[in-house]
Amino acid sequence: MTHSITGAARLTGLLGWPVAHSLSPALHHYWLDKHNLDGLYAPLAVAPDRVDQAVSGLRALGFTGANVTVPHKQAVIPHVDRCDDVAQRLGAVNTIIVHKDGSLTGRNTDTYGFQQSLMTKAGAQIKQQVDENQSVSLIGAGGAARAVLDAVLTLGYQRVQLSNRTPDKAKELAAHFQQFYPQVTITVVPWDHRQDMVADCGLLVNTSSLGMHGMPPLDVDLSPMAPNRVVADIVYVPLITPLLAAAQEQGHSAVDGLDMLLYQAQAAFAAWHGVTPVIDHALRGFMLDLLRDGP
Ligand code: ATR
Repeated sequence: MTHSITGAARLTGLLGWPVAHSLSPALHHYWLDKHNLDGLYAPLAVAPDRVDQAVSGLRALGFTGANVTVPHKQAVIPHVDRCDDVAQRLGAVNTIIVHKDGSLTGRNTDTYGFQQSLMTKAGAQIKQQVDENQSVSLIGAGGAARAVLDAVLTLGYQRVQLSNRTPDKAKELAAHFQQFYPQVTITVVPWDHRQDMVADCGLLVNTSSLGMHGMPPLDVDLSPMAPNRVVADIVYVPLITPLLAAAQEQGHSAVDGLDMLLYQAQAAFAAWHGVTPVIDHALRGFMLDLLRDGP
């Protein structure tokens, strides 16, 4: 794909360490081309002791904004002028907007990304589950779990069970979100009892690294689940994890991790360029080729 820019191009990029493996530059350039926009999305490898300089540099260099990835999602917060509500709840920023006056807003579009992935693949089921006060079972308590938990609570689920290999992290996550959503019930389930979370839930989400290429699968048996439930995995390499394969086999809706990646990027792109970029079959094919062959 060719992408030409002029001296007036809108500059954006990805702050992370490392960033060489990221698919975001290819994804954003796909959209810039598709929507005929004059812009650049640069990989910006920033060492941890230079985060403050890098964030100020966005302003100094006239950037429109940037994405932020591991390990800097928390570290950028003191260096922006304000954070939106979602970034405050998550304690993490994945998108920075540079305003015309040079001030910086930190946002987090991961919550939107997960919500959209659910609604796109299983919207009617999700609405019905919320109406029926069904529960969510969530595996993992890392960075991604925060966005997933925020997303399901924002969608209106009132009962969440949480299990993580390191129990203190699950307890901390539950206590943190209980402050923002005092009316909901968030229960921590011991890791050895994670199988107990399967039977009763409407939605099961894996936010752990289990099932990712090179990792063992998440060892839960889905057979006790009631029919027509929703199973989501934030892992996208492979796209169909053993967990999702089992879900499909048993007739549940399976939500893979690619859409979360696409929709969190869509929200950032829209904020910078004022255009909501297309997510369609062709884009998914483009991304699947990248996942197979590398960026
Ligand atoms: P992310 O930003 O993708 O959420 P992370 O913050 O490193 O990444 O979180 C990884 C999650 O996968 C954590 O919940 C982690 O469990 P711990 O908190 O106990 O570390 C989970 N995880 C990683 N490897 C695991 C394994 N072998 N077994 C069980 N859980 C694992």
